[in-house]
Amino acid sequence: MKEKVLAKFAEVFGDAEGAKAYFAPGRVNLIGEHTDYNGGHVFPCALTIGTYGVARKRNDNKLRFYSMNFEKLGIIESSLDDLKPYKEADWTNYPKGVMWAFGEKGMKVSCGMDLLLNGNIPNGSGLSSSASVEVLTGFILRDLFGFAVTNLELALIGQFSENNFNGVNCGIMDQFAIAMGKEGHAIFLDTADLSYEYAPVKLDGAKIVIACSNKKRGLGDSKYNERRSECETALAELQKRADIKTLGELNEEQFEALDGAIDSAVRVKRARHAVYENQRTIKAVDALKQNEIAFFGELMNQSHISLRDDYEVTGIELDTLVEEAWKIDGVIGSRMTGAGFGGCTVSLVKDEAIDTFIEQVGKAYEAKIGYAADFYVVEIGDGPRVL
Ligand code: GLA
Repeated sequence: MKEKVLAKFAEVFGDAEGAKAYFAPGRVNLIGEHTDYNGGHVFPCALTIGTYGVARKRNDNKLRFYSMNFEKLGIIESSLDDLKPYKEADWTNYPKGVMWAFGEKGMKVSCGMDLLLNGNIPNGSGLSSSASVEVLTGFILRDLFGFAVTNLELALIGQFSENNFNGVNCGIMDQFAIAMGKEGHAIFLDTADLSYEYAPVKLDGAKIVIACSNKKRGLGDSKYNERRSECETALAELQKRADIKTLGELNEEQFEALDGAIDSAVRVKRARHAVYENQRTIKAVDALKQNEIAFFGELMNQSHISLRDDYEVTGIELDTLVEEAWKIDGVIGSRMTGAGFGGCTVSLVKDEAIDTFIEQVGKAYEAKIGYAADFYVVEIGDGPRVL
């Protein structure tokens, strides 16, 4: 891939002299969904698929961007003097946002650059192609300009730019999982204080299978921000009766004891998901450590049901993929992953059942939804790097 992206860079920008190649992964979340902006736990891992990039500094303030995933868009130009989001700027609003965010944090990007990207994460799939581009851009800026930032800070800068430049009020999970990724491990992250632990994912005789619904979604036009504000309102209502800073501070019993504090049936469901999902995530990591993979899978299934019924972020596409998966012998657990409203499911599937899984879930999905899903057997990979 390194040779391929360097050759394309030379074709697009004249030559590749002095250009460097980089990679940042995508991520999949195993459990702990819509908990990261509620002070809860998440359990994502970086993947071996991700975004490849080639970058080179320029002698002027110009920014020239090219994506091999959107070749029709050609070179998109911008300038360091105009770091603002524009609709026409399309995907380049992500790298531009990160350049802007560095400036806001006192690290001004001092000259323009040419940047070529090529991702092998399916776009808009919920495997964090945008966070991958953000962390990759930050990693490149650190490398080219010598900014003194840790990988954790790269994650925070990526989230800051997504919140304030791209207008999506996302939590820290995606950027964290990507910036801090470790081969063979998932990251048990407490979003309340950013403490974390790497947990080995040893699935003897089973693999992680992603099913992509091909229902496109973008966080910006989804109900993501709406869910977040429903949780904030529920928290404010609970705070009249309980001394808590986040929903993640409550366990199931404490939440049930506050019955009546939330003044809307819908917000009760949203908060219940946030509380129960956080507790499920803690239990799931414990189960994995004890090698109780079947229980881990059971918790994944419960997570999906809660996202479907209480958080209401699944939809017929994701529900079909998951419900068809549950019918198959050898499926340890299956749930939607990421923000929802389209995107992907994640399943743990025994090796001998993978072919049947892809065939049967694929067939049933196409018959019901009218177009095909895509399947990926994935591996857990490392964080961003120079190639
Ligand atoms: C998106 C956001 C994350 C997280 C998930 C839901 O991926 O970017 O911060 O909230 O949705 O768990």
